[in-house]
Amino acid sequence: MKPFVYVTRKVPDEIYERLADKYNVEMWTEEDKAVPRSILLEKAAKADALLTVISDAVDEVLFSQAGQLKVVANMAVGFDNIDLEAASRHGVSICNTPDVLTDTTADLTFALLLATARRMMEAAEFVKDGEWTSWAPMMLVGTDVHHKKIGIVGMGKIGTAVAKRAAGFDMEILYHNRNRHEVAEEMLGAQYCTFDELLAEADFVVCLAPLNQDTRGLFQREHFQKMKNDAIFINASRGPIINEQALIEALTAGEIAAAGLDVFDKEPINADHPFLTMKNVVALPHIGSASKETRMAMMGTCCDNIEAVFEGRHPKTLVNK
Ligand code: DGY
Repeated sequence: MKPFVYVTRKVPDEIYERLADKYNVEMWTEEDKAVPRSILLEKAAKADALLTVISDAVDEVLFSQAGQLKVVANMAVGFDNIDLEAASRHGVSICNTPDVLTDTTADLTFALLLATARRMMEAAEFVKDGEWTSWAPMMLVGTDVHHKKIGIVGMGKIGTAVAKRAAGFDMEILYHNRNRHEVAEEMLGAQYCTFDELLAEADFVVCLAPLNQDTRGLFQREHFQKMKNDAIFINASRGPIINEQALIEALTAGEIAAAGLDVFDKEPINADHPFLTMKNVVALPHIGSASKETRMAMMGTCCDNIEAVFEGRHPKTLVNK
C-alpha cells in the first residue's frame, strides 16, 4: 500500500502531482479557509505524512491519535505551531523550510521598513482617494532610512540578510542575539549590543527572532518606552513575541513613531483591530516569504523531506534530530 499523505492547504498542481505520483494524496482545497481542526485530526489519524502550514496546531492531541504518522513537513522556517517534544516522543520527524526563503523574507522585511519610514501606504491611499491637489514642501514627509541605525533582534540567516540590505543603505548595524555572529561583525561591521542598548540607540528596531519560550512576550511596554520617540518598530517574525496591547499604547502615547508589522498575535487579525485605524502602522498579512519562486521552493523542500523519510534517507531539514 502506498503511504497516505495529507496536505492541509491547496497547493499548485505541480506539487500535488509530484506527491500523487508516489503516494495516496488528499488535500484541503478551500483556498480562503484553514482546514478545520476536526478534519485535520481525522486525516492525521490515517496519515503517514502531513504537509502543514503555520496555522495548523500539530500537538500532543494530534500525535496521540496519529498512530502511523512518520513525518510532518511544515511549510515554514518557523515551527512554533508544532510541539517538537511530543513529536519526538511519538517518533515523528519534523521538517521545516529554511534557506530557500531567507532572501525573500529579508526583502519583505526591508521593504516594510522602507514603506513605514517613507509612509508609502498612506501616500498611495492619498493619491487613490483623490487628495493630491498640489505639491507641498512638507506633504507626507517621512523619515530617512539611509545612514540611520538599524537594530536587529535575532541575527540568524534572515537577520543577516536584512543586515546586508541595511549595509547597502549605509546604515549602522546593531544587533542582539543569543550568540555573537562573527561573520556579520566582520563582513558587515555589525555591532553586538545588549537588548537595552539596542532599544536605546536604534532608529529602526527590527524583530526577527524565532518564537520560543525565551522570546514569547519579549517586547513589553517598558521596552517600547526605552526606544527613541522617533524610532520605528518592525516585526517580521512572529506576533506573540510582542505584547500587542503594549505596542498599541506605545504608539498612541507617542513613545515610538511608527510600526511595520507582517505578523500578529492572532492571525488573521480582525477587521476592527486597533492597528488598522492607526495611520502610523503598516500592517501586512504575513507575506514575508510570499514570492512565487520562494513558495514553490518551500513546497519543493516539503516534498523532498517527505520522500527522504519514505525512502529511508535523512531529511535535509529535520528539526528534531
Ligand atoms: C516562516 O517561514 O516561518 C514564515 O513565517 C511563513 O511564511
